[in-house]
Formats: sequence, structure tokens, C-alpha cells
Amino acid sequence: MNEQGRPARVGGGALVTRGVDEAGVPDYHAPMIENPPPPIVGTAHPRLDGYEKTSGRAKYVDDLTFPGMIYGRTVRSTVARGRIRSIQTSAAAADSGFTVVDYRDIPAVNVISLIEDDQPCLVEREIRHMAEPVLLLAHADREKLYGAEVVTDVEESPAILNYEVSDVELKRLTISRGDVDAALAAADVIVEGEYRTGHQEQLYIEPNGVIAVPENGGVTIYGSLQCPFYVMRALRVLLGLPDDKLRVVQAATGGGFGGKEEYPSMLASHAALLALKSGRPVKMIYDRGEDMLATTKRHPFRVRHRTGVSRDGTIVALDVDILVDGGAYTTLTPVVLSRGALHCGGPYRCDNVRVQGRAMMTNTPPNGAFRGFGAPQTLFAIEAHMERIADALGMDSVALREHNALRPGDTTITGGTIGPDGSALEVLREAVTRSDYHAKRAQWRGTNRGIGLALFFHGAGFTGDGERKLASRAAIETTATGVRILAGTVEIGQGSHTTHAQIVAETLGLPFDRIAVEHPDTDNVPNSGPTVASRTCMVVGRILQRCSTDLLERLSGMDPADHFKQHGPTRVEQEYEAPLGLHFDEVNYVGDAYGTYAWACDIAEVEIDRDTFEVRPVHFTAVQEIGRAINPVMVRGQIEGGTAQGLGYALLEDVIMRDGGMANNSMTNYIVPTTLDTPTMDVVIMERPYRHGPMGAKGLGELPIDGPAPAVINAIRHLGIELNELPATPERIMEAVCSSE
Ligand code: MOS
Repeated sequence: MNEQGRPARVGGGALVTRGVDEAGVPDYHAPMIENPPPPIVGTAHPRLDGYEKTSGRAKYVDDLTFPGMIYGRTVRSTVARGRIRSIQTSAAAADSGFTVVDYRDIPAVNVISLIEDDQPCLVEREIRHMAEPVLLLAHADREKLYGAEVVTDVEESPAILNYEVSDVELKRLTISRGDVDAALAAADVIVEGEYRTGHQEQLYIEPNGVIAVPENGGVTIYGSLQCPFYVMRALRVLLGLPDDKLRVVQAATGGGFGGKEEYPSMLASHAALLALKSGRPVKMIYDRGEDMLATTKRHPFRVRHRTGVSRDGTIVALDVDILVDGGAYTTLTPVVLSRGALHCGGPYRCDNVRVQGRAMMTNTPPNGAFRGFGAPQTLFAIEAHMERIADALGMDSVALREHNALRPGDTTITGGTIGPDGSALEVLREAVTRSDYHAKRAQWRGTNRGIGLALFFHGAGFTGDGERKLASRAAIETTATGVRILAGTVEIGQGSHTTHAQIVAETLGLPFDRIAVEHPDTDNVPNSGPTVASRTCMVVGRILQRCSTDLLERLSGMDPADHFKQHGPTRVEQEYEAPLGLHFDEVNYVGDAYGTYAWACDIAEVEIDRDTFEVRPVHFTAVQEIGRAINPVMVRGQIEGGTAQGLGYALLEDVIMRDGGMANNSMTNYIVPTTLDTPTMDVVIMERPYRHGPMGAKGLGELPIDGPAPAVINAIRHLGIELNELPATPERIMEAVCSSE
């Protein structure tokens, strides 16, 4: 921040001056050594994993082999709901090279342990969704493996495929503040709207895959993972083995986006069962079709808004009904619903709020974690709804947003307080000015060009008490050359290893190349919690920063390598410390749902072909305030990548469900944006330091995907076409145009 208290922009790498804050919290950015070397944080250091990955040396799970390794295959249900009468396979009888596993081979409990523990590892009798795992086979010869015939006799029953008519509830929550009914009754205008979003596939470059190796009376998993310690816990419950017989090692991982948060626990469980029964290492790599058919997707949402506003534009009542398609089992649905609900009011003030959220069971593969985790769905709804409110009032929608935007000291819909780093107004004004929004809005009316805006925020880290409960740990240790970082969070392409190394290097006053990062292996690193929820830089980076300041004291002026030569390795391990004064009541949804938020404003400029109804984004402005850009190039990468993924969600990515399964489960007919579909982007990184983040950094990973869809829908609205559903495919746009003519 500069003297005027305005956000400083990244560029030029100048150090930003910061003092001790009013609460007396130490300025962790202050150099702890005399004559500090040039700053490392805020500089675009090349990625630590860059050379290995670009040179083809990095070992992904499919690059690994083990002596005696065989291959595993999953036999899945071909109906959405039913009861298994019998399963027959001639595989084992005809060829002694086969290993066959069903639920009776599970040593302890037939469950993939997560929140509710309702999902079996293998179906016993009752099939609850298409592609549900029922039987496992393994063989050394892949041709024979996939050639083996399996006959499943199933008594089919009527499936629930539409969450809007499902009567089986997985989870319900309520947020209540003030008096909504009185405020609605007193409001000058009431604006209603209904918004729908579809599934979205994570489509990481590398599909899910693991290898299970039987060893030490237990099993070791190598896999493409976001959460090694989640896999560990699932195996502990399934196999009934103690932790010292279980080991999970992350292989180089080609992207996750949430799609490797929970499913690897299922896949690792399958491989482990086959490995333990066969006594041999078992590799299971999904091909794209299986990955898209069987693994988790983004939850479809239906969001209904009833909003009371005064003539001057003040939002006086917010009444929101959220309905979520959970799929066949609970998995992470309760937390997705929760994050969705907590973001459903957008970055706006409102004293009278009622949010009712329900997640319904359907006989479809469980929906799960996907970058944004419920927030993209509800932020789409509120940001599309804001345009309707503006129209109903005859007011400019930017003015409406400015009038209601959360400012520092304001309270959220749960009564949480916005800290001094709240920057909704700043990102909005910067984006509007840079994009020349108002001029384009006026000039383009009635043409084939449209411009639309979305203002949004994203809570960083686990919701509520989540981080306290996780009690994440991380460590650093002196080595012969400098120090190494020991953390259980994983590099999945987002740049977390490099970011962590920059935080540690700068805090220790060491050159960047003297910091190593230990590869995540549950035998060697502490449990730093899962690599999710925009928490890896802010939460785990902060723990590493505290480890570094501790180590500095222990070194008392000595270089870590010299200290190592004299004393051997010195290790400092720290646990997460919750910021003081942060309280959230998880039952009643009252208090600070998040320690802080990142803020952003996106502006989409689109062009329509009025013959084909195709909408193409032509230019995009993304102004995003993230506390502190530890590595500006990687921050820009997250913003550009998340924006592209959000544009796919807005315009292209349409999961077609047929008979309870994804019908377009291939990259030829599930369309994601390529570089040719991606507009020019004006990315602006703003910094308003969060005092509990490392060097002020907040969470960034998910924020960029929250804004593109509403910005695009609002740009389409500017073209005179009102759509309330994602994705805005040419078919949907045509339908909207024809039905309004
Ligand atoms: Mo994420 S969607 O929090 O893996």
C-alpha cells in the first residue's frame, strides 16, 4: 500500500513500505538481517519444477514402474440404480494370472472415508449411480485384462436423475440475519430471479492414476494427488492398517482443479486392494473416457433470489434459495453447499438476510470439488441478478454495485467483519476506468458487441473453524547447502513449491537457489492439510514463514549451511495459529466465515454472430486484489488460467447427462477453450496486504474462476439477450432469442 492507503500495483518490483499495524502485529516483511539482498518476494523467479517438466524428466505416475508390476481395471455399473443379483467372470478360472477383488476382500470397512462415510469402495448389492465400481481385476497383460468378460445381472430400479425433483436430502443449511419478511414488506421494489448452472469437468491434463505397491506388511501409494493425507486416512479406515504400514507419495501431477481432491482416495483404495491380494505392485491409470465418466464434476446449482431494494439502490433484504445436485453420495457436498451459501450475497452489504440451502441426492456420480467450490455458482446468480435489480430501478449497475459494495469494517451476511484489506470498491473502479466500460456500454448498444461486468470476492482458506481443526503443520530444516522445506501440500502446476521457497528465502535472507523443497511423501513431511481452498500460499506459506523466523533465531547469525556442518540438521516445525478474534458458529452460521477475502472485478467484451448465435469473448479485463503477489508471473498465470476456465464454464463446457452418466465424455465433444477461444486479457494485480498472510498474501487459486461467467452473461444481456443459465451455448442463446421474439 502507498501512503494514501491505496492499493499498490505490481510491476517494477519496488518494495512496498509497511509498518507495524494498529494491533501491534509484527511486520513480518521487515528485513531481519542487515544489508538485505535484493527482494525475492514480488519477483518472478522461474518455477522450481520448470526444468524437470519442460525437459520431460519429471516422473508422472504413468512414467513409474516397479518390478513385477501388473495393471488394474475397474468393472463399473452400467445402470444408474439397481440391485446386483450376481456377478460372474470367467477371468480367474481361465487364467491364473488374474486377480479378482470384490467387496468381500476389504479387510476392514467398505467405505471411502470423508465426511459422512456413506460411499462404499465397492458396491455390495445396491447400485446408486452409473459407473459405480463393483469389481476389480488385475493382470500383467493389459489386452487380457480388458478382454476379460464380466457378466453382471442387475435388477434395475427407477433412478432419480433430476435434483430439482429429488426428495432425498443430503444436507441443509440456513443463514439468517435481521428480519427479511419485514424488510421485504417495507422495500420499494422487490426483484426476483432464478439462475441455473450445469456440471463442469475439471479436465486436468493428466487423468487420475495411482500405483499401489505392497511393502512392509502394508501398502505404498504413488499417485497423481492433491491430498496425500486424505488418501492415507481413507486407506487407514478401509484396510484397518496403522499409519506406519501406509505411505502415500505424490508423483508429478498434471493439474487437479479440485478433481484430485477426493477421487484419488477411491482409486488408491482400489489399487491397494488389488496389490494386497495379488502381492504385486498394481498400476491403475484412467483413460480420458473413464475419468470423465466416473470421477467428480462441479455441482449444478439452482439459485432463486428475492431481493428488496430502496429507490436509492440500497439492498434491504436478501432472500436466497439454493438447491444443489449432490449426486449419489455425500462426498464433499456439504462444504460446497456451505461455501456457495456464504458467497451467495456477493460482495455487498445487507442487514436482512435469509439463505436456505439444500443439497439433493441423485443417482448420478457424486459431484465434488472444483476450483471455486460452490462460489462460482452462487456468484454467477447474484451478479446476473444485480443487472436485473439495476434495470428494475432504472439505475446504472456500476452505481448500484458501488452503493452496496462491502467496505472495510462492514459486516458480511453472517455478521463477519471485513478487514482493512477489503477492496471491492477499488477493484470495481479500476476495472471500469481501464476498460472504458461506460463509453463502450453506450456506444455498443444495438450492435453485435456487448460488455458486461462482475464484482466478486472469494474467502481464502477453509471455512469457519476449518483451519483450526486441520491444525496443519509444516517444517524447515538446515542442509549442507541451505535449507529445505517440508510440507504435505503439493505442486500441481500452480507454483506452490516456488512460492513457498520465495517466502522462506526472503524471510531467511538467503538466495532463492539455496532453498530446496522436499517432495511430498507422508513418511517424510508433516501433514500440512489438503492442497485446496486457496490455502497453500496463505495458510501453509504463513506457517513456513513462522518456521523461518524461528530458525533465524536458532542460527543466531550463522549461515544455515555452516550451522549444518557443525551441528547436523536443525529442524523447526510449526502448527497453524488462528488469527485472534476470528469466530464462526458453524451451526447457526454466525461470525467470520473466512479470515479474509480476495476481491476482483472482471469485465468481458463479447461479439455475437447473429446467424449462428455464437458468442465469442474478444477482450477481458481482470482486476484482482490478492494481498501480495509473492511471484507476479505465477499470479498472472493463475488469473489468466482461471479466467480461461471460467470462460469455458460460461460459454462452452456442457456436460450432457444421459441415463445418469456423462454422454459426451471425450475431448472431441466436451469442448474447453483453447488459446484461439481465449480473448486478449488485461490483468491487473492489486495488493492490499492481509496481516495474517505471508508478506500480506491472501488466497488466489480459486478467485479467478468466480467472475468470468457472470461477466459474460451480463455482456450477453447488453446484446439484448437475457439468459439465466450456464453455459451460454449457441442453442441456449437461440432459444432465448426465439422465445422473446
Ligand atoms: Mo479445491 S475445489 O478447494 O480442490
